[in-house]
This record gives sequence, C-alpha cells and structure tokens, in this order.
Amino acid sequence: MLNVMTNKEHDEARQGEAFAPFTDEVNPYKKHFYIESYGCAMNFADSEVVASILMENGFSATNNYEQADLIFINTCSIREKAEITVRKRLTEFRSIKKKKPGMLVGVLGCMAERLKAQFLEEEKLVDLVVGPDAYRTLPGLIEEAETGQKAVNVLLSRDETYADISPIRLNSNGVTAFVSIMRGCNNMCSFCVVPFTRGRERSRDAHSIVNECRTLFADGYREVTLLGQNVDSYYWVDEQKDERVTFAGLMEQVALISPLLRVRFSTSHPKDITDDVLHTIVKYDNICNYIHLPVQSGSSRVLQMMNRTYSREWYIAKVNRIRELIPDCGISTDMITGFCTETEEDHQQSLSLMEYCKYDLAYMYFYSERPGTLAARRFEDDVPLEIKKRRLQEMIDLHRIQSLHSMQRDVGKTFKVLVEGTSKKSADELFGRTDQNKVVVFPKGDLKVGEYVTVKITKCTAGTLLGSVN
Ligand code: SAM
Ligand code: SF4
Ligand code: F3S
Repeated sequence: MLNVMTNKEHDEARQGEAFAPFTDEVNPYKKHFYIESYGCAMNFADSEVVASILMENGFSATNNYEQADLIFINTCSIREKAEITVRKRLTEFRSIKKKKPGMLVGVLGCMAERLKAQFLEEEKLVDLVVGPDAYRTLPGLIEEAETGQKAVNVLLSRDETYADISPIRLNSNGVTAFVSIMRGCNNMCSFCVVPFTRGRERSRDAHSIVNECRTLFADGYREVTLLGQNVDSYYWVDEQKDERVTFAGLMEQVALISPLLRVRFSTSHPKDITDDVLHTIVKYDNICNYIHLPVQSGSSRVLQMMNRTYSREWYIAKVNRIRELIPDCGISTDMITGFCTETEEDHQQSLSLMEYCKYDLAYMYFYSERPGTLAARRFEDDVPLEIKKRRLQEMIDLHRIQSLHSMQRDVGKTFKVLVEGTSKKSADELFGRTDQNKVVVFPKGDLKVGEYVTVKITKCTAGTLLGSVN
C-alpha cells in the first residue's frame, strides 16, 4: 500500500505506519523490536534495512509496541509539523517506558541527524540516537544503551549505501517494493533540510540494485520503485571494470529482468532528467509512463531564491518535451506556497503554471522554515502564516478540479492494471494502479493479487477510477 499516495497521504498520513509482525508468537528467547516510520519513501525503505540489520543480529520484529524491548521511531525533519508529530509520539512512548523500565526507545533518521544529542541531553526522551548512515552500528549501540549509557551515532558517510543488505519487507503486499538506488542530495535547494540530514549524494552499486530487483521478481513482486532524492543524477562507476551506469542505463537493466516487472522511479529533478531517460521510458513497455517532476513554484524569481537552478520557462519546456515523447505520461509535482518574499503575483504564477501543466497529482505544502537551511540563514520568513495557508487552499482547490478532469479524461479508456490488493471499501473489489499511477477499483471475480488485468474505466471520483474487467 505504500505507493498508493494521495496528496494527504504523501508525507503526513503515511506517518506512523508500523511493521506487521514477522512472527505471530512472541519468542521468549529473543528481544523484540518495533519500528514506526515517518516521512518519505526513502525513510520507509531505510526501516527495512534497519529491520534486516536487527534480525541478522538475533532480534525479532513485532507490530505491538507493548511487546517490544526496543521501540524505534524513524523520523522526518522536512517540515516543522513532521517534527511535532514525532515529539508527541516520543512523549507517548516515554510514558510506556515508565511502566516498563528495561525497554529502550531509539530515534532514527533525519530528526536524529538534525537534533543529534539534544534528544539525549536536553529532552531526555530517548536512549539511542542514530543517524541515517549509522544503522550498521545499531547492534553495538543497543548493547551500550542496555548498560545505561546514552548511545549516539550521527556520523554521515560519503560512501554508505547499504548495498549488501537485503531489506526485510515486513510490511509488504508482496507485489510492490521500494528499492533505494542512491542516498543523500547535493542540491542545495534553499528551503530544504535533506542535504543536512542525509549528507552527500552517492549512488549504489548497480549490480546490487539489479540483483535486489531480480530477487524481488523471483519472490513474486511485480513492481519496483527506484528511489532517490534526485534519481536522474544517479551515476555509478566501477573503475576496475571501466563500467559506467547512468540512470537511463540502470532503468534499462531493471526493465530487462522481465516484461512482467513494472519499473517506477522517484524523484526526478527537472534540471537533471534527460532525453535519454525519456527515450528509455518509451523503449520499454514495463517502465511506467509516470514522472514525478516537482516544480515548487511557478515564479522564476522565487525559483531562483529557492536555488532550484531552472526558470518557469525552462520547466515548461521540459513538460512539453515529456508530452511530445510520451503523450500519455502521468506527471505530478510538489508545490510550496508562501516561500520568503512570495507576492500575490508570484502565487498567481504558481497557479497558472499548474493550469498549464495539468498535473495528474500534486503534493502541496506551505513553507516551513527549517533551521540551518540556506533560506533560514539568508532570507526572512516574511509571508504571514494565514497568507501561506490561504494560498495553499487556493492551490488545493485548483488542483482538486484539475485532478477530477484528469480522472474524467480516462473514463471510457482501457488500462493495464497491476492488482495490488483488496479495496478498502469492499471485500468484493480489488484495487491496482495504471501505468500513470492512478488507482483503479474493480470487481474481484477470480483475480489474484500480483496479476495484470485489463480494466475498462466506467466512472471516477477525484481520487479513484472505477472500472470493469475486460
Ligand atoms: N528531492 C525532491 C525534489 O527535489 O523535488 C523533494 C524531496 S522533499 C523530501 C519533498 C518535498 O517537500 C519537496 O519537493 C518540497 O515540496 C517539500 N519541502 C521541502 N522542504 C520544505 C519546507 N521547508 N517547507 C515546505 N515544504 C518543503
Ligand atoms: Fe531537497 Fe532539493 Fe535535494 Fe530535493 S533536490 S532533496 S528539495 S535539496
Ligand atoms: Fe523527511 Fe528525511 Fe525524507 S527529512 S522527507 S525523511 S529524507
């Protein structure tokens, strides 16, 4: 279910998702860990790496934190609201810990990296603080914490990619999986905390990525989403073998595993997506015609202050090129309202850009200043909160109309859909997604999860297509 995201679900509602238990029974000879993940898909993928490291070291997973000896919370710092949610959750865990003093609570991920020892020293909320590049040291840190010492490792690495670790898919539908292809980010978008919490960009060994996808396919998975903050800058070099793999090359290798394995990717930075990537999407039927291409603002002046390194016109030319080469391509975006100095005119430009691009999906946020970022150091956060929120609401209202139109355009058409699970609303219906990443609900019949079906769209809502199986 992790891939099926509406705007609301994107970061916020996906927060707090817990792993299913690996075993139903509590094994009295093992220590049990519980992990809750917040933030982007990369954080969810990291939790699967953490689970793998812990299980290799004799721990067992549980989805019931009351049974856990260790509670981990994999955190996000992207906006202030994300951090507030985590703090609230930590306070809840602290009260559980009072009743169960031997239990350890650990903070992982981006907030651990941003706040470092502050969690241990000032707030006394937790026993372990472990940054995104330090998960291999978790078993040793747990031992340290068990002796009553406060354990912390927030060192960022220039080369850690966890390439050799097979993630444990504890919360899986058995059909779709995330595969991390790189870590960190070198783009200093002025609003963004990620370069500080995740460190320098590095690409993972291409062979390990292809092998992981191959194993997933052999295990019955039918869709992989290749993940990175900026997938188009993926570049892996093996000097000894004189091998160089670009993102287009990597996608091709994954697509060649089997025509039955769907390939998705996220996120594309408009400045880096190449014609090569677009031609590769065209060449392989199993690479989905869907690109998440965040623009952030429709005003070239604001884009410059955001340090996005492209203008409105440049972005529009990129969208035109995508539509020219892949006419039925689904395109989605991220937008920020109320960035420093944003005027009504800038805001109107964001709205008109959205009208031009006719996004199928948009994730929209109001600007939240993050300490230490370029924007926080250089610019005043001068748009009042109520104006940021009003502009956001106007944007959401526009997008609601646009997404309904996007759905309505599909009524009467036929799509190949990968069956992902039972519909939330009815046990007699299944759901899956089109190539373009739209959710489709259809009657169950004799169909099974993991199969491809051809569905004729008969109706729609703003978020879902409804159809019958051909
Ligand atoms: N790497 C992706 C890119 O360049 O588009 C984005 C990754 S970021 C985790 C997801 C989205 O969060 C961004 O695209 C942006 O819209 C939003 N975001 C990041 N920092 C923000 C901030 N300080 N306030 C509000 N939204 C923010
Ligand atoms: Fe943040 Fe920009 Fe990197 Fe995306 S590309 S993670 S917005 S710095
Ligand atoms: Fe949040 Fe870190 Fe992802 S800040 S959005 S979890 S990279």
